[in-house]
Amino acid sequence: MKNTLQIAIDGPAGAGKSSVAKVLAKRLNCIYLDTGAMYRAVTWLAMQQQVPFDDLTGMDQLLKNLQLEFREEDGVQHLYCNGMDVTEAIRSTEVSANVSAVAMIPLVREAMVAQQQKIAADCDVLMDGRDIGTTVLPDARYKFFLTASLEERARRRYLELQQKGVSVDLEQLQRDIALRDQKDSQREVSPLVQAPDAELIDTSHMTFDEVVEKLFHKIAK
Ligand code: DC
Repeated sequence: MKNTLQIAIDGPAGAGKSSVAKVLAKRLNCIYLDTGAMYRAVTWLAMQQQVPFDDLTGMDQLLKNLQLEFREEDGVQHLYCNGMDVTEAIRSTEVSANVSAVAMIPLVREAMVAQQQKIAADCDVLMDGRDIGTTVLPDARYKFFLTASLEERARRRYLELQQKGVSVDLEQLQRDIALRDQKDSQREVSPLVQAPDAELIDTSHMTFDEVVEKLFHKIAK
């Protein structure tokens, strides 16, 4: 294994991990791997192919034929799943509602973790997810656990969706995020938990730029 730079950013839904990670990876000149997008793509494909999540043979087959590829197009990262651009589709409310159920299947986690570790063995990477510091990259040089209050995370998601022209109910959004937190934290395999050696960053009262600067300086130092 090469001596690559590994940065792990974990935390609950809506803590701002992916926006921060994207900018930070560009500044640090390393590959950004959105591991949540990978679980979303598996969920999307299972729904598309009508494979019930509890059909382990079907899910195993789906994983064996799965080809995930991140491609940079006009400065934006796209995710291709078996040759199809699923960048937008994996953000749908249906996928968001089902992804926790898929992410708790051990078979799915094993396949995703293996792919993520393979990428990290060859390139400098910054990964965001739930189990990066604990399971995927336990030896990462930098580990951060980004969080914010439930109210603030729901408010940010709400503004983000509003900007995209999607109308949602703030209270419903808060309930959805709380449910996803609960499922992600209580599952048996690789639950969402702060790695003992990860630095906790509460972004509730920080601007986006402040978070990026804070992490950048910790790494660049
Ligand atoms: O970060 P996100 O909201 O796009 O993640 C989607 C789901 O995938 C979320 O419910 C938790 C799960 N996930 C996971 O279990 N492990 C990861 N490394 C990343 C995401």
